[in-house]
Amino acid sequence: KGLTVLVCGGGNAAQVATSMFASRYETYAISLYADEAAKWKKHMMGGRWHDKVEGMKLTLDTGKKLISTPTDISNDPSLSGKADVIILAVPSFAHGQYFEAFYPYIKPGTIVACMPARSGGDILFASKMKEKADSMAFVGFETLPWACRFTEWGKRATILGTKGQILAAVTPESESTRAIATLQGLLGVYPAIEKSPNNLGISLRNPGQVIHPGVMYGRWCAEKWDGKPLAEKPLFYQGVDDFTEKVLLGISDEVQDVCRKVEALIPGFNLKDACTLHRWYLDSYKGQMADDSTLKLSMNTNSAYIGLTHPMNPVDGGFMPDLKYRYLAEDVPTGLCFTRGLAELLEVPTPTIDKVITFAQESLGKSFLVDGKMAGPNLGETRAPQAVGINSKEDFFKMAKIACIG
Ligand code: NAI
Repeated sequence: KGLTVLVCGGGNAAQVATSMFASRYETYAISLYADEAAKWKKHMMGGRWHDKVEGMKLTLDTGKKLISTPTDISNDPSLSGKADVIILAVPSFAHGQYFEAFYPYIKPGTIVACMPARSGGDILFASKMKEKADSMAFVGFETLPWACRFTEWGKRATILGTKGQILAAVTPESESTRAIATLQGLLGVYPAIEKSPNNLGISLRNPGQVIHPGVMYGRWCAEKWDGKPLAEKPLFYQGVDDFTEKVLLGISDEVQDVCRKVEALIPGFNLKDACTLHRWYLDSYKGQMADDSTLKLSMNTNSAYIGLTHPMNPVDGGFMPDLKYRYLAEDVPTGLCFTRGLAELLEVPTPTIDKVITFAQESLGKSFLVDGKMAGPNLGETRAPQAVGINSKEDFFKMAKIACIG
C-alpha cells in the first residue's frame, strides 16, 4: 500500500531519513531554512533535476547501501497536505516554524513525529495545530534513531550506528498502536520502538536538558572560571568534578520534584520514564561504565565518552569556551525552560535550574527568566508553557491531553 512521507530539515538527520524512506516509499523532503531545499535538490541531481537523476546513496551500519531518489525536495509547506507521515529530523528550535507553516494544509490522521522531540514538543504541536491537533497523532521520540552524518552534502550519507531500542510517546494515546506500527515499519527492525506512556514523560526524561547545561555551568560559571583562555580543551564528561556533579544532581532532583507533584495531582499518572539522571545512565550505558556507583563516576568512567571535550574556540593564548554552542543554545530553550515553566505552574521551587538558566541566558545574550518568572522577552523562543499562553496547571494538562483534576 502506498504511503507518503515528508521529511523536514536539511542536515545530517534529514538527509539520512529522506534517503532511507525514499528507498521504499513516496518521500518528499522539505526545508524551510533559507535556500537549503533548492541547494540540496541541485546537489543531489548534479543540477539536472528533469534530465539525469543522480539520487542519494546511504551507507548503512550493516555495510549495505541504499540508492534512492526522493520525489521532490522543496520549501513548499503545502506538501504537508499530501503526507501520511511527517518526520521532523531537524534541531528542536525549528519545530515550531514547520508546525506553523503546515497548519493550513495538514490533513486529519497525519502522523507527525519529532526525532528527537526534546521537551514540550506535544504542547508546541497542540498550540500551533489548534483545532486540528485532535485529529492527528503527535509522536515524541526521546532521541534520533541513528548516529549519522552526511559525507557529501545532499548526496551521500552514512549511518554510523543504530540504537537497539528507542522510547516514543504518542498523543493522543488512542492513536499509539497505529502511529508506532507505521513508524516501526519506516525504520525497519531497529531500533525497536518502545512505547512510553505519555509525552510528558519524554519531556521530563530529556537527559540533554540536565547534562549539557549542567556541565557547562559547572565548568564555566563565575565561581569556577576566571574568563581567561585555557591552554587545552577540558574534558566534558570525564572532567565532571564534585562541584559539577552537585549541579547535575540538583537539576535532576528538581525534575523529580516536578514529577512527584504531577503524580500527586493526577493519581495513577505514569511518569516511569522520567527517571533521575543517574538511573538514565544505568539504563542507557549498562556495561560501558567501569564504575557506575555514582553519577560522577558513571560519566567519568563511561567508555562512550573517552576524550570528548568541551566545545571550545581557538583564540590567541589557547581556547575559549563556546558559550553559544547547542549545549546551551538548544538544550536550555527547548529543554530546561520547559521544565522550569512547568515547575512554576506547579509551584515547585527550582533553585539549581534557576542558577543554570540565569547563567545560560547571560551567555546566550537572551532573557527567559526574569525575577523568578518565565516572562523574559525571549520566552517565545522556548518550550516554556508560558510561551504559548499557558498560565495555569489546569490549562497545561488540558493542552497535554492529560485527563485532569476536576
Ligand atoms: P544538523 O546540525 O545537521 O541540522 C542542521 C539543519 O538544521 C540545517 O540543515 C537546517 O535544515 C536546520 N537549521 C539550522 N539552522 C536553522 C535556522 N536558523 N532556522 C531553521 N532551520 C535551521 O543536525 P542533525 O545532525 O541533523 O540532528 C538533528 C537533531 O537530531 C538535533 O536535535 C541533534 O541534536 C539530534 N541528534 C543528532 C544525531 C546525529 O548523529 N546526527 C544523534 C543524536 C541526536
